[in-house]
Amino acid sequence: MQNQFFVSMFSDGFFYFRAMETVVSGIRSTGNLHLGNYFGAVKNFVQMQNEYNCFFFIADYHSLTTHPNPANLHGSVRQVMVEYLAAGIDPEKSTIYIQSDVPEVTELYLLLNMNAYLGELQRATSFKDKVRANPDNVNAGLLTYPTLMAADILIHRATKVPVGKDQEQHLEMTRTFGNRFNKMYGQDYFPESFAFNFGSKLIKVPGLDGKGKMGKSEGEGNAIFLADKPDVIRKKVMRALTDSGPAEPNAKKPDYIQNLFDLMKLVSTKETVKHFDDAWKDCTIRYGDLKKQLGEDMVTFLTPVREKIEDIAANESYLRQVARHGAAKARESAQKTIQDVREIIGIKRF
Ligand code: TRP
Repeated sequence: MQNQFFVSMFSDGFFYFRAMETVVSGIRSTGNLHLGNYFGAVKNFVQMQNEYNCFFFIADYHSLTTHPNPANLHGSVRQVMVEYLAAGIDPEKSTIYIQSDVPEVTELYLLLNMNAYLGELQRATSFKDKVRANPDNVNAGLLTYPTLMAADILIHRATKVPVGKDQEQHLEMTRTFGNRFNKMYGQDYFPESFAFNFGSKLIKVPGLDGKGKMGKSEGEGNAIFLADKPDVIRKKVMRALTDSGPAEPNAKKPDYIQNLFDLMKLVSTKETVKHFDDAWKDCTIRYGDLKKQLGEDMVTFLTPVREKIEDIAANESYLRQVARHGAAKARESAQKTIQDVREIIGIKRF
C-alpha cells in the first residue's frame, strides 16, 4: 500500500508517475455527525480519497481514557462507521478500519513510549486541559495519548494528517517522536507528517444558536445532524434566533442573521441566497420565509444522506465486510512498518 503510484498527465499529453502520499486521520467515536463535521472535515476526506493513499480509522482505544460503558462502545464505533460510509468515504478507495483491529498500532505505541519523556507528555496542552477538567481521572492512557496518536500516524509512515488546529501540538509531538527514533537508531525511517487541508479555504459552519460554530456540546437544537429527520430539521431551523428585521436599507447583518445566510450558502442555490440578500438590503425580508426555505433546502440536502445512513445501519453483513476488508488492508501496511522497526531496534526472532 505504501508504494502506490499515482498516474498524472502533463498538459502536453505525457504521462508521469509520482509516489502517492499517505494520509492518515483518526475519528473519535463521540456521537453523531452534524453539518459542521460534514462541511468541516468529512467532505474533505471524500475528496482526498481520489488523490492520496488514505487511511481513515475509528479511534476506539483513544476513547478508553474516559472509560466508556462496555454496553455502548461497539454501538458508537458502529454509528461512526455507518455515518462516514453514508457521507461518501469509499472502502474501495480508502482504507477504513477500527484502531483496535490493528494490533501493530499498540506495539508501535509501546515502542514509542520507550523514548517519550514524562516532561514533554505532561506539557501537552490537551493533557493539562484534561487534568484540570477531571482531576480524579489522570490515567497513564491520557498522559500517553500523544504517543498513541503518533503510532497511528507513523504505523503507515504518513505525511499528511487532516486535522483541526487543536491537534497541531500532537502532530508536532509525532514529528518529535519520529525524528528521535530516526536519530537514536541512525536511520531515516519515519517521515515527518503535517496538518493538511484539502480545500484551500476552511469552511466555517455556524450553529443555530446565533453564537458560534456548530457543535454538539453547545446545547440541544444548535446542531443539525446528518441523521435528523425532516421535521426535526425544520423545527430546529424555525427556532433559530432572529429579530424584527433591518432598520435601514443596506445595513450590516448582525452575527445571528449572517449565520443563517452562511448556512444557506452551504445548502441552497445561489439564486435563493441572492433573493434573500436582496430582500435584506431593501428591508422587505421576512425571516419566517427565510427559515422555511433554509429548512427545506437542508431537508433536500440531507434526505439522501439520512436514507443511506438507515440502509447501511441495517446491513450488518456489509458493515462486517467493510471492517474486515479495512483491517486486512491496514494490517498489511502496519505489519511492514513493525517488521522494519523491530529490525532497526534489534528485536530478533529465534
Ligand atoms: N486526537 C484526534 C482528535 O482528537 C483523533 C486522532 C487519534 C487522530 N489518532 C489520530 C487524528 C491520528 C489524526 C491522526 O480528533
